[in-house]
Amino acid sequence: MRKLQMGAAALALSTSVASAQGVEVLHWWTSGGEAAALNVLKQDLEGQGVSWTDMPVAGGGGSDAMTVLRARVTAGDPPTAVQMLGFAIQDWAAEGALANLDTLADEQGWEAVVPEALQRFARYDGHWVAAPVNVHSTNWVWANTALMEELGISQPTTWDEFVAAMQAAQDAGYTALAHGGQAWQDATVFESMVMGVGGPEFYQASMVDLDPEALGSDQMVEAFQRMETLRGFVDDNFSGRDWNLASAMVINGEALFQIMGDWAKGEFVNAGQTAGQEFQCFRVPGTEGTVTFNSDEFAMFNVSDPAAQEAQLAMASAVMSPEFQIAFNLVKGSVPARTDIPSDQFDACGQMGMAQLAAASAGGTLFGSMAHGHANPPSVQNAMYDVITAHFNGEYDAETAAAELVTAVEIAQ
Ligand code: BGC
Repeated sequence: MRKLQMGAAALALSTSVASAQGVEVLHWWTSGGEAAALNVLKQDLEGQGVSWTDMPVAGGGGSDAMTVLRARVTAGDPPTAVQMLGFAIQDWAAEGALANLDTLADEQGWEAVVPEALQRFARYDGHWVAAPVNVHSTNWVWANTALMEELGISQPTTWDEFVAAMQAAQDAGYTALAHGGQAWQDATVFESMVMGVGGPEFYQASMVDLDPEALGSDQMVEAFQRMETLRGFVDDNFSGRDWNLASAMVINGEALFQIMGDWAKGEFVNAGQTAGQEFQCFRVPGTEGTVTFNSDEFAMFNVSDPAAQEAQLAMASAVMSPEFQIAFNLVKGSVPARTDIPSDQFDACGQMGMAQLAAASAGGTLFGSMAHGHANPPSVQNAMYDVITAHFNGEYDAETAAAELVTAVEIAQ
């Protein structure tokens, strides 16, 4: 097996070699907005002569993609590049499955420009094992402007105002909250309830430190009670609905709000809508000042073919370029994974996202998203998913759910 050589010559991306092999990319970007963003990357690479073999596995949060990945690796046939989140990257690196990107990272000065919160996942044991594409954040509400105006609703800033706004929409015959009943979507909403009820310290104690007292506390019961309130505002057909179809309900004026990460913005933009005009974005009431984030990163798997290795480097290099970070994130709804990118090309939500990310990072209120693999390892995350979704579907009351959470997390560790 040839050792990775990432000198200046390799950086020139010897396109003839790369094109002989290309990259096979496993990812879960299958919605309209996601596919549009993915195309930016595909075209960038194809422009460099690196061919693209697509391996899409639908399902936000990536659980299904990770199941397929495990099967591929077990069969001795890993894809060359894999979209991956947070702790999953660390798990694969610990298994020794990931390629070392240090030489490229050093040459391009990644350490100085990638936010520390991202390096914590993109590096394992000090070595770069993944190239971060973006920073998403999950504690957003997406709102239909025309409906807000029709119902006389101004942007809610407290939980009570948020509930009152949804009540007004429901009373007027609209779906108040567009939601898809899938475990990862329930969990995405839930983490904002945890933050909204208990604030940063409680989020840290329960979602990150996994403190049993916090997990079983009255505040956790209240977070589950808020989920019950939200459950009262979704439509009858919510079960199993894909997140982008829920976004479409807000886009077309069928529903007032969606609580979702800013990949939802990609759907609005892909539908020709503009932030601050047809749609609004604001933080989930009660979570203002905090940011729960996740970062899509491309982890490169160990492959022995030198041409495949060259193609991996071409991809990592393309992903980290400032031009790509702007072009891609404008379409994806996320913000750049570099701190040296000006925000002027971004729309109102993107500019807000970038400013809030920087402020939260400086002020100690930036937290990894539990639902998207950045708060705790996949085993714990999946255990939390099970409890949250069982409760949302009426299997447990709020008190039982909090108690189940304690047990499930304990077993998963
Ligand atoms: C990913 C996003 C993706 C979303 C929905 C998240 O886990 O980070 O890139 O758009 O899932 O598929």
